[in-house]
Amino acid sequence: SDFQPFLRALPKCEHHMHLEGALSPEVLFKLAAKNNITLPQDDSAFASPESLLARYRRFTSLDDFLHYYYIGMSALITSTDFEDLAWDYFQHASSDGVCHSEVFFDPQAHLSRGISYETVVSGFSRACKRAENELGVSSMLISCFLRHLPAKDCLSVFEQEDVQKRYADGTVQGVGLDSSELAFPPENFVDLYSRAKECGLKLTAHAGEEAPASYIATALKELKVQRIDHGIKLVEDVELMERVAKEGTMLTVCPLSNVVLRCVDTIRDVPVRKLLDKGVKFSINSDDPAYFGGYCLDNYVAVQEAFGLSVAEWESIVRAGIEGSWCGDERKGELL
Ligand code: HPA
Ligand code: ZN
Repeated sequence: SDFQPFLRALPKCEHHMHLEGALSPEVLFKLAAKNNITLPQDDSAFASPESLLARYRRFTSLDDFLHYYYIGMSALITSTDFEDLAWDYFQHASSDGVCHSEVFFDPQAHLSRGISYETVVSGFSRACKRAENELGVSSMLISCFLRHLPAKDCLSVFEQEDVQKRYADGTVQGVGLDSSELAFPPENFVDLYSRAKECGLKLTAHAGEEAPASYIATALKELKVQRIDHGIKLVEDVELMERVAKEGTMLTVCPLSNVVLRCVDTIRDVPVRKLLDKGVKFSINSDDPAYFGGYCLDNYVAVQEAFGLSVAEWESIVRAGIEGSWCGDERKGELL
């Protein structure tokens, strides 16, 4: 669109992308060959990178996507695999005009395959340093816990010595909650979040992506999260929406993801206008760019095509994203 150069030039911050979600079918097939990983032979989607990509265009739900997402990441083995994956993402982000990115990863999805936490984090953190040095993109790593697993297992991973070490040394600075939502409400994770808060970590959780607004209320009240990931169902509860607006809690909205996973029918049904009108802060994010067909800027362009926002509205969205970031005030000052 005509707005693309303007949107690219804005000092954008991304707050909701899963590094494992940057794994394209092409890279997945290359890694599987290199690492001798056999992809499922009973699913014809895995016949070729092209057929896998075609299957991604037909996701029917969050759980349908997650099935492919967890198979995809099984090809990641060495610390260099993780580094290359994150570096590929940071290059895309930089060329989209993203200046600062707070990125998720899923430790439990690797630990369960026998990949050590240190392998994952050392690879990702090398890519973060390189992004800072070579692209000027600042970043932060956020460890997400898988809500479809027992809460006590999440807590014991959190307490692992190698995991705690990377919180203590500042390599990983936050905790999130992701995976299948509806059957696994936030209140299951009160102990995990209270420990994470004690450790001084930043707190966020996916809530109100496919589950109702009550999950957002519980994440705020019981988990004491500072942000809500997705949160599009907030508009179903006007009172809660007013409270979120008043408290300045930011939602990390992912428009293309919401359409591809059928949480909404079209981008027009992402509640961008309602959030703006009520003064709810939100950022615009890619979630799992290799699976949902677009990086950060594609999401901005899609919102512009659907809503035709003004320059002033875009500037206020981007400013809210900078202010809602978890980088220090010095970095925020550079971005504002
Ligand atoms: N929702 C829940 N779990 C996820 C997502 C998401 O959008 N992306 C990767 N894991
Ligand atoms: Zn997500």
